[in-house]
Amino acid sequence: MTTKRALDKKSKAQAAKIAPVEKLPKQAKTGAMKFEYAPSLESTDIVRIEKRNRLFIGGKFIEPSSEAYFTSMNPATGERLADIAEAGDADVDLAVRTARKTYENVWSKMSGRERGRYLFRIARLIQERSRELAVLETLDNGKPIRESRDVDVPLVAAHFFYHAGWADKLNYAFPGQNVSPLGVVGQIIPWNFPLLMAAWKIAPALACGNTVVLKPAETTSLSALLLAQVFQDAGLPDGVVNIVTGAGATGAALVNHPDVDKIAFTGSTDVGKIIARAVAGTKKRLTLELGGKSAHIIFEDAALDQALEGVINGIYFNQGHVCCAGSRLLLEESIAEEFVAKLKKRVAKLRVGNPLDKNTDIGAINSAGELKKIKKLIQLGKDEGGEFFEPTCAIPDKGFYQRPCFFSNVSSSFTLSRVEIFGPVLAVSTFRTSQEAVLKANDTPYGLAAGIWSEKGAKIHKVAGQLKAGVIWANTYNKFDPSAPFGGYNESGWGREGGRHGLSAYLDVR
Ligand code: NAI
Ligand code: MG
Repeated sequence: MTTKRALDKKSKAQAAKIAPVEKLPKQAKTGAMKFEYAPSLESTDIVRIEKRNRLFIGGKFIEPSSEAYFTSMNPATGERLADIAEAGDADVDLAVRTARKTYENVWSKMSGRERGRYLFRIARLIQERSRELAVLETLDNGKPIRESRDVDVPLVAAHFFYHAGWADKLNYAFPGQNVSPLGVVGQIIPWNFPLLMAAWKIAPALACGNTVVLKPAETTSLSALLLAQVFQDAGLPDGVVNIVTGAGATGAALVNHPDVDKIAFTGSTDVGKIIARAVAGTKKRLTLELGGKSAHIIFEDAALDQALEGVINGIYFNQGHVCCAGSRLLLEESIAEEFVAKLKKRVAKLRVGNPLDKNTDIGAINSAGELKKIKKLIQLGKDEGGEFFEPTCAIPDKGFYQRPCFFSNVSSSFTLSRVEIFGPVLAVSTFRTSQEAVLKANDTPYGLAAGIWSEKGAKIHKVAGQLKAGVIWANTYNKFDPSAPFGGYNESGWGREGGRHGLSAYLDVR
């Protein structure tokens, strides 16, 4: 029998083997040391990227009648990844006519139960091909593989599963009312979450019985085209989802097509306004998911280390390419100094680099244009007098990278506090009372999200009730679930996506 003493001896011996704290280098104890990890690169063997990628119309990949192609890059290296077809007006027209015919002859005639079966099948195929989808997303977008693998792709599958469940229960979603699909839906999505935004758009539209013409962002079309293969493999009837690749002109052709019943758009507020003007006075319905300048409010009674991780996740996650990024940080004055010191230490430990490396926290900025915009806004912040902190970590010499950084002592009038930067740049300021915190958080033309950090439930509820933001997280940030509606106030957009609210955006409810 092993005695307690023998056990103690054994565990002491084991502990000695795993380098006791006393034996670690001095810096490690102070937390200032950065542990070096050997590179751990995800293999790209699993993806096959076509040199020329065609349009997906009527269930087939076809040449664009425009015969035009453009290049998509890998932002991590700045190298060309593939050529993508640029859909012209005639191609968009063909896609819309195909979607209309399919709506009338096939999809609207099918029962909700049958539609649900296709969606379940798509969700399962996404799970089966999840590694391939994640690697392709990282190559085309520049986001860390850890995110595309652990966040984006699982949420994509979850979105199809969730909506598959609704397809035959729409009457229960709106009891006592009649629901019918809208018809042909045009959907335009951005580059920050290419696959996830495609799922957010396509899954509810199909569950509700609509057919779709989707236009991905010009820098990130590849994962949508891989999704098209999933639709083929799932046996989704030809023409239910059509994908037209291209830039703003292709999007505009879709918005202005007379036979589209609804436009759903996610992207910049500027383009959202153009689209709102274009559909005004037409039969088209519109939902817009636009930008944000969301605030974290951290009270002195919050669990500060937990809040710190929330802040890091809220702004440096996906290089800050997140519409609901927590890009403003409001600290209660009594803890501001302590928190900023913690923030510096933590930011200095983030790893910027090859997005395919599993240890990377911050990958590549999606395009040279976006990087230029971020740099310009950082310079503006310096000129306006913000106190700037940026670690000195190495970044790859090719590709588009921005070190994580923040400005402290920022006032509400600074450009930094008002303009969506869409990069890993945080603006920090302070408040004295919760009333002041609410005033500052609401002092923005946007209203997408907010984070409240406090150990007091009553305070959280009180403050949340006063914030003008569509999504409010308490003691956490950037948590998503297909059953929770997402959307904003004011210039952050119109309508909600996800949950029962999101279904109503794709239905006529009478
Ligand atoms: P954008 O709004 O131009 O692009 C989004 C989508 O709209 C893309 O598919 C694009 O091809 C399409 N598009 C562009 N012009 C169009 C038009 N006239 N009609 C129809 N579709 C059109 O955004 P961009 O230029 O890629 O990014 C600029 C800024 O917008 C970013 O720096 C960021 O601040 C913000 N943004 C916000 C996003 C969000 O999730 N709310 C997503 C992407 C960008
Ligand atoms: Mg690309």
